[in-house]
Amino acid sequence: MKEKFFITTPVYYANAQPHIGHAYTTVAADVIVRFKKLLGEKTFLLTGMDEHGAKIAQKAEHEGLTPQELVNETSGSFQNLWERLNVDYDVFTRTTDKEHKEFIQKAVQKLYDKGVIYKGEYEGLYCVGCEQFKTESELVEGKCPDHNVEPEVMREESYLMKMGSEQEWLMEMIKKDEFKIRPLRYKKEMLSFLENNKLEDLSISRKNVDWGIPLPFDETHTVYVWFDAFLSYVTGLIKKKKFEEFWPSDVNLIGKDILRVHSTIWPIMLRHLEMPVSRGLFVHGHILSGGKKMSKSLGNVIGIEEMLDKFGGEGTRYLLSAVGSLGDDVDVTMERLTEKYNADLANGLGNLVSRVITLVGKLGKGAQLGNFVVKEDALDKQFVKLMNEFEVDKALEHIWEIVKGANKYIEETRPWELIKEDEKKFKETMKVLVRNLWQIIWLLNPFMPETAEKIKYQLETGKKEILFERIK
Ligand code: MSP
Repeated sequence: MKEKFFITTPVYYANAQPHIGHAYTTVAADVIVRFKKLLGEKTFLLTGMDEHGAKIAQKAEHEGLTPQELVNETSGSFQNLWERLNVDYDVFTRTTDKEHKEFIQKAVQKLYDKGVIYKGEYEGLYCVGCEQFKTESELVEGKCPDHNVEPEVMREESYLMKMGSEQEWLMEMIKKDEFKIRPLRYKKEMLSFLENNKLEDLSISRKNVDWGIPLPFDETHTVYVWFDAFLSYVTGLIKKKKFEEFWPSDVNLIGKDILRVHSTIWPIMLRHLEMPVSRGLFVHGHILSGGKKMSKSLGNVIGIEEMLDKFGGEGTRYLLSAVGSLGDDVDVTMERLTEKYNADLANGLGNLVSRVITLVGKLGKGAQLGNFVVKEDALDKQFVKLMNEFEVDKALEHIWEIVKGANKYIEETRPWELIKEDEKKFKETMKVLVRNLWQIIWLLNPFMPETAEKIKYQLETGKKEILFERIK
């Protein structure tokens, strides 16, 4: 039986327009899913929006909109972006969806009935930007390092979910890779965190936030936004009637900023709900711009629209996948992206395709291109291994070795001279080149599906067309 593969992106906060970071995660997830499809696996890609909570309510008020109007607008922008980036998701889920709300209410009710959720009081330092309580040790000079603001002291009646009772279990799950965290350094980081900190019970409701899902057993409270958001990984499947087929998730792909919540609250929630726990997380680093975190005040933000206008959907997919190792932070500037676009796409791949198609035209009618086609060995072991380990940038380098090798082969064998001198040799040479091109078409498919399709078309029809123009 074919394996199934269910991957999720985070559900993004609907308080702001999408940016390059969101695109980075979502494109990576799409590339991996398209690769799994090539392997013949049954796949499901979930993405969507996190639409409740104080942060969104505040933003809506600021804009003079209702929260629902605001989230409708931002969700639309995200969907447009995924379309421009050709993201082939199976569900775009939203926490304001009816099915989601119903499921959340059932879930909290179940935990309340079991005594896992109980009424208490919670006091802590709350960062609205993160929608999380912070410990003193997480603050830098009294401020949240991610948002550079002092968290609010909050003390209120709240419902709490038991966490500490599951700590030993959680550590075992992580140690044994039953909840598998990759790259390994993030697994180590979480284990060391859990060895040194006792998990406190988690406040799962808010009394003064109206924009949320009311607790069924106490409507003066709404569900805490992270509790609400996590379960969209479940309800997204339910909405498409795919729960039985795909649960548990094989990978939750996330940025390192949300590693801690994903490796504590998330598995413990599922355990309390008596559901199979997600198989694990893949954690990626952040995109930096000119060595610094992108911020409007620094003026170093690389807009995703700007990238799309300049490099197109396919070029942007390529560049986001090629900028660096997924697990690490990567530094990006518009100049470097442009250089890479010209070197790899306009020159490297573009040249190769154009040269080979011209030469194919010279093969003459007698030559059956079919004889030159070898597909079965295209997904070579090295490529499959890299992709299975989410080393997408290395997998691309692997493809570019073929591109460079083929360009070099053309220069060395000089097929345009062979045509005149040695027809047999010319055909042999072409066989190698056409095979290379087929291999590239196969391997490139997850990264640049439209380009792969275009190369295939050119090869099959002999109609030459420029793939990528050089840009400034
Ligand atoms: N709503 C929560 C997630 C809930 S999941 C159950 C949230 N949303 S977010 O809109 O802030 O998106 C955070 C995610 O966006 C990160 O985990 C990461 O995937 C992506 N990125 C945001 N900024 C980024 C960079 N600068 N670089 C790379 N990815 C980043 O957190």
